[in-house]
Amino acid sequence: IACKKDLQGKKILVTAGPTQEAVDPVRYLTNHSTGKMGYALARCAMLRGADVTLVTGPTAITPPPFVQTVAVTSAEEMYQEVTKRAAEQNAIIMAAAVADYRPATVSAEKQKKQAGDAVLPLSRTKDILAYLGEHKPAGQFLCGFSMETENMLENSRKKLEKKHLDMIVANNLKVEGAGFAGDTNVVTIITGQEEVSLGKMTKEETALRILDETLKATN
Ligand code: CTP
Repeated sequence: IACKKDLQGKKILVTAGPTQEAVDPVRYLTNHSTGKMGYALARCAMLRGADVTLVTGPTAITPPPFVQTVAVTSAEEMYQEVTKRAAEQNAIIMAAAVADYRPATVSAEKQKKQAGDAVLPLSRTKDILAYLGEHKPAGQFLCGFSMETENMLENSRKKLEKKHLDMIVANNLKVEGAGFAGDTNVVTIITGQEEVSLGKMTKEETALRILDETLKATN
């Protein structure tokens, strides 16, 4: 796609993909994120002239050219790599599906099965977006994502306020053409002032709309 270089001079950090939380040397907990939305954001921001950093969990996608890509595995690693680069960014867009829990202990040896059922104790991971909201420099634009199966607008608005975000992109997983796997999305862009429901569109088109809002807010 041909783009106007309207994000020239802006530093934008995007996160993408799932995280993997190790159980032992051969097992982990994760989710269905493919990274498509975050990679589309990083690529489109680069094409519009931004200085882009992509912090990504494990995905099958080739990193876009002319983007500084940082590969991470766990939520803790993503927290470290994002927070150390956060202060200098004009905008941060958290499209990654960060695990909310990790195994409370990581076994150094492969866990052998035992007779009967098992229970896996979990600990909370750090909420990266909440940390960024609490430490947001003046003028920085902070955008999160939310996926809901019910009360999408109300729950997303609560996250916007609680995490001190400027914008949240809400996905309704119950709508056809929305969610993790496909190439399309059906999202509602929520800010303090408004709610804009976008119809079904490609993740690239969705990315361009999110970047339009980013540009308006950082000018
Ligand atoms: N996020 C994060 N760090 C985490 C968890 C999530 O930065 N440890 C970010 C995601 O990248 C996303 C947003 O927070 O931008 C999602 O908010 P969250 O409250 O995690 O949503 P859910 O997990 O869907 O919340 P809930 O379980 O309350 O529905």
